[in-house]
Amino acid sequence: MPISPQLELAFRDRFGTRPVTCVRAPGRVNLMGEHTDYNDGFVMPVAIDRAITIALRPRTDRLVTVHSLDYQQSVTFSLDDLQRGERGWAAYVIGVAWALQSAGSALLGWEGILSGDIPKGAGLSSSAALELATARAFAAISGLAWDPARMARLGQQAENQWVGVQCGIMDQMASAAGRAGHALFLDCRSLEYRHIPMPAGIAIAVLDTGTRRGLVDSAYNERRQQCELAARTLGVRALRDIDTAAFKVRATELEPLTRRRARHIIRDNARVLQAIQAMQADDAGTLGQLLNASHASLRDDFEVSSEALNAIVEAAQRQEECFGARMTGAGFGGCAVALVETGQASRFAEQVAAEYIHQTGLNPQIFVCQTADGANILPA
Ligand code: GLA
Repeated sequence: MPISPQLELAFRDRFGTRPVTCVRAPGRVNLMGEHTDYNDGFVMPVAIDRAITIALRPRTDRLVTVHSLDYQQSVTFSLDDLQRGERGWAAYVIGVAWALQSAGSALLGWEGILSGDIPKGAGLSSSAALELATARAFAAISGLAWDPARMARLGQQAENQWVGVQCGIMDQMASAAGRAGHALFLDCRSLEYRHIPMPAGIAIAVLDTGTRRGLVDSAYNERRQQCELAARTLGVRALRDIDTAAFKVRATELEPLTRRRARHIIRDNARVLQAIQAMQADDAGTLGQLLNASHASLRDDFEVSSEALNAIVEAAQRQEECFGARMTGAGFGGCAVALVETGQASRFAEQVAAEYIHQTGLNPQIFVCQTADGANILPA
């Protein structure tokens, strides 16, 4: 996929030349393993064909200048004097420069134009895509080696320590290391990963409820603390270290609420491994059942779903051509994901939209996404 004519034109308008290079990093949708990443567990996201793209050229000084087409805003900063004042998208760009420099990378200045088509705040990881696109830009200009796992960690560090949002490693790893045609099976403790081929005949539908998550940060942090408490009480480093059999025996050591939180994590971890088996056996039916079970667990045990998410997931699950559906990402709003028979996706989308609008009065956005490669440099 070459650079879009619109981005090239915007670059020419602003800088008077063609860009020297163009980088992109994708958003993601998570198929299985939700809230498991910060429990050192397993996840299985796919990188999707919605991305952040940056067209750029080097500068001879130590400045970085980025213009966002979507926000119609620019930021300029010096690599010798990174300031914490910026908010919004610019904070992510500066935060990545900070993380790279803190890790010892020698950075060079550049200027460019940034644009994206990932819905924001929808649980499709537009922030991680912005971090990885920025890292890819710095790596291209400064001649840094591109190690996806290292870059994902630095993106996460920028988000945790510079922007101040607690998140796990899943989104950054999906954006850094995804591969077209595959899901990314990731061990969030070792960061070892494998690309699992998507079975033929399955389309991935993203169901955006049109609602945006409120209170998500505090609820997210609260869930993290509850999981840490469960691990501490059970005497393990992380909930990853307890499997479903061990949990059956020891569950009563936990208070009822903590027990439900832990039960979700431990079962969703197991479901990631089962999902891989189902995919390798081309068993879309079992894979779909696993999605449905994961949704029920997120709704009842982990309590991060919402009325809108439940409504759209149930509408999806009612359709004959749907193998299974669940909320995806942190929860409380945003998107669900459904696996649907290829060829039936438009009928599915129309029907789910109609039922959802009828039930909730809200306007959904439903689209089939293609799997995509992780962060890369676009051909000139
Ligand atoms: C957000 C976080 C991820 C992960 C998911 C829930 O997307 O950024 O690290 O914890 O929520 O699975």
